[in-house]
Amino acid sequence: MTDLFSPVRLGDIELANRVIMAPMTRDRAGPEDEPTDLMVEYYRQRASAGLIITEGTQPSPAGKGYWRTPGIHTPGQIAGWARVAEAVHQAGGRIAMQVMHVGRASVRANKAPDAQTVAPSAIPCPDPIPGPDGVPVPTEMPRALLSEEIPQVIAEYVTAARHAREAGIDAVELHCASGYLPMQFLSSNSNLRDDAWGGPVEHRIRFVVETLTAMAAAIGPGRVGFRICPGVTFNGMADADPAETYTALLRAVDGLGLAWCHLIHIPNAGFDALDLVRANWSGPVIENGGLTLDKAQNLIRAGKADAASFGYAFIANPDLVDRFRTGAALAKADRATCYTGHGDDARGYTDYPPAH
Ligand SMILES: Cc1cc2nc3c(=O)[nH]c(=O)nc-3n(C[C@H](O)[C@H](O)[C@H](O)COP(=O)(O)O)c2cc1C
Repeated sequence: MTDLFSPVRLGDIELANRVIMAPMTRDRAGPEDEPTDLMVEYYRQRASAGLIITEGTQPSPAGKGYWRTPGIHTPGQIAGWARVAEAVHQAGGRIAMQVMHVGRASVRANKAPDAQTVAPSAIPCPDPIPGPDGVPVPTEMPRALLSEEIPQVIAEYVTAARHAREAGIDAVELHCASGYLPMQFLSSNSNLRDDAWGGPVEHRIRFVVETLTAMAAAIGPGRVGFRICPGVTFNGMADADPAETYTALLRAVDGLGLAWCHLIHIPNAGFDALDLVRANWSGPVIENGGLTLDKAQNLIRAGKADAASFGYAFIANPDLVDRFRTGAALAKADRATCYTGHGDDARGYTDYPPAH
């Protein structure tokens, strides 16, 4: 019987099981936003996941908004990720990189002095974001991208996808959720453009459709996934009609042969996001959000999702798949150390032990 422990194919990637590590920003990159030895160890410890999806990784200096997030735009960053990918592969795992451009959700002090803050429209992100000392501060007012600059931003994503493959990473995931740049284009309240990239829904989905199309052309559609969260209000998102927006988006990308749609499933008035995905997208679906072993098993057994991803559970349980298999108790993540690097301190990062 198909269950959470059965193998599955997502695009070109063969997974040994359907327990996926959700992307999680941990703010522990080294100088120059390069992956560190500690990051190599963190991901190696979690390689028994069917697939690891890395923390959000910026495709360019302008794509950075948080403190100590890694990049994939310099030779040193590519070399660092190559060490991560090698460690995960040696331990028998698979790894995809989440490519994350924050757009307007950005704090000036967290990024390079000459890095710009750009968005579809010059509307600031209302939610404060932690600065270098972890205390939330206001975000920077973004500059609206010129129409002719948008292909260049898409090209940065394409280069990031190529760099990830160069580093030996198996696939990439476009982060289209949580109020970052792609979602700023999708959402009616953050995209007030009157050119071909804004306004009616077919214009608002264009940035994501063209970015996914271009990434797929560069590294193959079977190595490109995307993550959505219809209806989320994080980082000032307030789409007037999320059901309309995501129906249009999913229909537009359905024919591309992409590897997966990764859904952060939250409640919405008037529609269920998983039903909406299933009705408009024929490819593999990864379900996420507050899942337990039982909930995930039921979804997979019922054929409602192809795989399930876990966030917090993977922070504290590097051997989550083994614990699920054996029924071992789960350790609880310490929220105080989710985002605190404390230099090269392993606390709350690589010091969660396996059960056996
Ligand atoms: C510390 C932390 C960092 C996160 N960073 C990201 C991120 O970089 N990209 C992303 O798409 N989601 C991010 N998330 C959201 C998780 O991927 C996931 O959607 C969320 O934790 C819900 O899943 P869970 O209930 O299994 O934890 C983060 C979550 C946590 C706890």
